[in-house]
Amino acid sequence: MKIAVFGLGFVGLTTAVGFAKKGFEVFGYEIDENKAKALNELKIPFYEKDLDSALKDVLGVKLKITSDIKEALKNAKIIFYCIGTPMSDDGSADLSFLLTALKDTAANISLCDKAPILIIKSTVPPSSCKEVFIPHLQNLGLDAEKDFILANNPEFLREGFAYEDFMNPDRVVIGTYEAKNIRELELLYEPFTKDIFFTSLNTAEFIKYLSNTTLSLNISYANEMSMIAQVVGDIDIIKAFSILHKDKRFSGNPAGIVSYLYPGMGFGGYCLPKDTLALYKKAKDKNYEAQILNSILNVNEDILNFYVDKIQNEVSKDENIGILGLSFKAQSDDVRDSKSATLIKKLLELGFRNIYAYDPMANEIFKKTYDFNISYEDSLQNIKDKCKILVIATAWEEFSNVLNEKDKKIYNFRYMKGL
Ligand SMILES: NC(=O)c1ccc[n+]([C@@H]2O[C@H](COP(=O)([O-])OP(=O)(O)OC[C@H]3O[C@@H](n4cnc5c(N)ncnc54)[C@H](O)[C@@H]3O)[C@@H](O)[C@H]2O)c1
Repeated sequence: MKIAVFGLGFVGLTTAVGFAKKGFEVFGYEIDENKAKALNELKIPFYEKDLDSALKDVLGVKLKITSDIKEALKNAKIIFYCIGTPMSDDGSADLSFLLTALKDTAANISLCDKAPILIIKSTVPPSSCKEVFIPHLQNLGLDAEKDFILANNPEFLREGFAYEDFMNPDRVVIGTYEAKNIRELELLYEPFTKDIFFTSLNTAEFIKYLSNTTLSLNISYANEMSMIAQVVGDIDIIKAFSILHKDKRFSGNPAGIVSYLYPGMGFGGYCLPKDTLALYKKAKDKNYEAQILNSILNVNEDILNFYVDKIQNEVSKDENIGILGLSFKAQSDDVRDSKSATLIKKLLELGFRNIYAYDPMANEIFKKTYDFNISYEDSLQNIKDKCKILVIATAWEEFSNVLNEKDKKIYNFRYMKGL
């Protein structure tokens, strides 16, 4: 399996050297002739720990670096694209360099091995492969199965640790058409890790942005909190953050914090809604508009409205709807500011008449706290018997049982995993 790597920057050079180090035959293709020449003289234009000695080991043995596209593509089965996707003037990702590289590949496809696998490793926004690259290649006269296979393989390496991260990846994600498992790509990554995840093309592209925006969110959030601390005054920011990091939810494998970094239908309960709002108000009193705190609260409303709209569009008002879970979270009977209550209130206001509810712990307290005209069931079986539509509103473990029910429409608003 000859591998060609297009673009020998941070990602491409690391990829080319990494596969060569594992014994694959690799051709690195760099359009910038001066860069290719320098690399052939073992001069890397950026610093990455251990990459220089690894390049020295493989150059001329398993890795060839060239500016000749024909030489790079000859007999190539796997082609990685590690080309820049910089920000355009309007802020969107500029895919033009990738489009050129794909066009140059298409013009030379007859040189490649039969139906080569073209793998986008550059970071590209979700839907780029499906909506931009495949149509682009088709417009160039290629057939999406007979002439090539397109895959997306986002790169998660950290600059500064590029080589180490590439050789020891914490996950390998490969997006393919209909999430099909491609044996050649498994063989490619098996020497690195067992954690190889095949997903749809859109999912793979999305995961890279999910990962990066989680990081940017944390940084901006920490910065907003530091600004709040400064306008309030007399707060030791360094100490506050180092004490935050002691929270046991940040450690462990998997760390407990991941259950908060998970979608659902919003947070409720006694603490998070009121405390987020109270800190937002305090900052405002001190003349600082805490945009992230405000957005946290807005998104918490949006998510529920989003799901209410979904039910309204898909379910008739006369249907029996079963709400599974009434407490604000599983393992608790606290129903204060429970999102199930907001959901039920909105559905009643919209004219849904036949709402049934069941919670393994909180039926009675919910009935006492909220004066809703709904029916309560005392077991999962009873509510299943009455309702074809079931909404998982609290992540109680017993509700994962319903996910396999074929004759029900399930709204899994807590993204529970089936058994
Ligand atoms: N730098 C990182 O830490 C990192 C990490 C993960 C993902 N990424 C993503 O990977 C992609 C590449 O990033 P990078 O930092 O390696 O970029 P880079 O600018 O360092 O390297 C890109 C290389 O591609 C070459 N090139 C451009 N057009 C070409 C073509 N048609 N044929 C052959 N070579 C061509 C350029 O000359 C350049 O050397 C980007 O989409 C980036 O967002 C970067």
